[in-house]
Amino acid sequence: MPNHEAIYREEAAQYHEMIARQPDLLSVIEEIVPLRGLDVVDIGAGTGRLSAALAPAANSLVALDAAEAMLDITAERLRAAGLDNWSVRVADHRELPLQGGSADLIVAGWSVCYLASVNVPDWERNLEQVIGEIKRVLRPGGTIILFETMGTGYETPSPPEFLLPYYRKLTDTYGFSHRWIRTDYEFDDADQAERLTRFFFGDELADRVAADKLSRLPECAGIWWLKPR
Ligand SMILES: C[S@@+](CC[C@H](N)C(=O)[O-])C[C@H]1O[C@@H](n2cnc3c(N)ncnc32)[C@H](O)[C@@H]1O
Repeated sequence: MPNHEAIYREEAAQYHEMIARQPDLLSVIEEIVPLRGLDVVDIGAGTGRLSAALAPAANSLVALDAAEAMLDITAERLRAAGLDNWSVRVADHRELPLQGGSADLIVAGWSVCYLASVNVPDWERNLEQVIGEIKRVLRPGGTIILFETMGTGYETPSPPEFLLPYYRKLTDTYGFSHRWIRTDYEFDDADQAERLTRFFFGDELADRVAADKLSRLPECAGIWWLKPR
């Protein structure tokens, strides 16, 4: 499996080339909370998949991430969109550089998993810290929305085993609601599909993409949301 931390540090542009082939998630988010006028924070914002969709309707948007190279692309995209209601900052999920009670909506896409997978030492404490920080930064009545993988290469949910305890904690311990959606990749052709799948997901999935000459790679994503009391 490729080293994702190195990818986020050194190959942000190729990561962006890959996720740009997936559907826009604005309407999915707006089904949970209408965005207009909200102060939004995107933690683990990466190259701005969620930030770029949310910023145009938000009052303000702060994009945070551990990898500066990823945030450079987010900033470039927000600037190119002609927006001036945003900022980006390097930060870890466990220590958000934001005032308490300063956000209406906090989103995190495919990111908290890097601290909350059972393969990570202290994953339960990490998760407790992240949820604690999110609750501190949210205003009363605010909302948190998390996206995580439910399986790439699958048409129905098939989440990785090492994420199941994290997902169970979200619903059973923290009280999140949950649903899933399809986030398929629509590549230009089978060669692009194989190249980008190999880059991020590794040889096993890329060999299947190549053998089946797929240009559409199915994927399922879970959405968890909560309005803390
Ligand atoms: C799979 S990418 C997702 C990026 C973006 N949210 C998206 O939907 O495309 C995961 C991102 O989480 C960031 N990340 C991983 N661990 C983090 C942590 N502990 N604190 C902050 N960001 C983290 C990585 O740098 C990377 O940009």
